[in-house]
Amino acid sequence: MSVERCRVSLIALVASLAIASCAQVEDPCKTKSRVVADDKYCDKYWECDSGQAVQYDCPNGLVFAGKHRGVTEGCDYPWRSNYCEYPKVQINPPIGTEHCDWLYGIFGHETSCTRYWTCWNGTATEQLCIGGLLYNENAHSCDWPENVDGCQKHPLCNEDPNGNVPLGKSCNRYWQCQGGYPRLQRCPAMLVFDRRSLRCVVPPTEECDVPTTTPQPQEEEDVKQGQQNSKRTSNNEYQDGQGQGRQRNRN
Ligand SMILES: *[C@@H]1O[C@H](CO)[C@@H](O)[C@H](O)[C@H]1NC(C)=O
Repeated sequence: MSVERCRVSLIALVASLAIASCAQVEDPCKTKSRVVADDKYCDKYWECDSGQAVQYDCPNGLVFAGKHRGVTEGCDYPWRSNYCEYPKVQINPPIGTEHCDWLYGIFGHETSCTRYWTCWNGTATEQLCIGGLLYNENAHSCDWPENVDGCQKHPLCNEDPNGNVPLGKSCNRYWQCQGGYPRLQRCPAMLVFDRRSLRCVVPPTEECDVPTTTPQPQEEEDVKQGQQNSKRTSNNEYQDGQGQGRQRNRN
């Protein structure tokens, strides 16, 4: 407890709310982390500065998560955890910029179901959902189309809602439409996608030779012994970028 702050409040006879507040907020100078959450406002916190408890605001759109937690300054996106449970509320109003409802956050795209915006200090960066996924505003992430209300089925599947569609020039990946929703698929090892019959077939076809590349990592356990294990990698093949992104994050 901050005895000093309470006494000051009482002497000054400030609003009873402030007194109630000071009676509940732990003194950050008496904690090991020297930072404590505000007891009423989830987007405010108290830090011990030169022996004094000083109140701070989280960056606009973020709420206090704890020292060294969250995405920046100990603050996080409110939907990432139960940071802001009743009776705590976010008190600072949103500061919007183009594409951003708040200065920090992840927001839906105005015209596209496969795109969304990440906002950092009011600067929006357009992001793309891959692999037939759509942006889910509730989950703040890319999700299967059937979980995303209000987004039409993908135009890829307009021609045949349950057909296969070639993926660019890829010889082993293709889209499989299921009820109008596309799923990214890969032909079984040693087969290639035939753009004419829209099926996986034994190569060669007009566009695709017998595969000479090694399989992708997730296929390795299916690879039978005796199959050619060429030193050439398949990394220059079409990638959806997911695995690469995760690897980068680990560094
Ligand atoms: C956020 O942007 C404003 C101006 O747009 C700038 O003054 C401020 O320093 C930025 N804050 C951070 C944490 O980058």
